[in-house]
Amino acid sequence: MKTLLIVFHTGGVKTATMAGAVERGARAALKEAEAEGEVQIVVKRCAEAGPEDVLAADALLLGTPENFGYMSGMMKDFLERVFYPCEGKVNGRPYALFVGAGQDGSGAVSSVDRIVTGLRLRKAHEPVIGLKELTPAMLAGCEELGATFAAGLAVGVL
Ligand SMILES: Cc1cc2nc3c(=O)[nH]c(=O)nc-3n(C[C@H](O)[C@H](O)[C@H](O)COP(=O)(O)O)c2cc1C
Repeated sequence: MKTLLIVFHTGGVKTATMAGAVERGARAALKEAEAEGEVQIVVKRCAEAGPEDVLAADALLLGTPENFGYMSGMMKDFLERVFYPCEGKVNGRPYALFVGAGQDGSGAVSSVDRIVTGLRLRKAHEPVIGLKELTPAMLAGCEELGATFAAGLAVGVL
């Protein structure tokens, strides 16, 4: 059984709504592919997640708001807690990001990318950035992200 880990923080509702769409897309893709027993989806807030979750994950989807041109403090805390316990043990595992932002989002993306590149994770999808008010198109992008990862894990092409 493969494991898809979705870890996110939200200071309000937006990134949580995006995480819900990511999970929805992942579960729908597994149902469509009749692969529900092949991939388990684990969803955790940054505060609840730790190194054991990352070590057990075959792929990671990380979600954060952009705060002050950077990832949220809770995502940074999560990455600080997992970095050394996971360093050298997760090389090449695929990841992608989803970001809730007011008007930019690029600072959150680059700050997370830099750290997880140090962990030797492999970017497998462009980030989904939800700017201003979430639109149906943005949520569809989140669903597509989750579906790509879940289906990719199920058939071994991620
Ligand atoms: C303290 C703080 C700092 C923020 N800094 C940025 C920023 O640098 N760039 C940006 O695009 N949005 C910024 N925002 C807006 C948030 O990214 C945006 O409201 C986001 O949707 C919040 O997501 P959440 O509801 O999941 O917490 C900031 C919001 C707060 C509260």
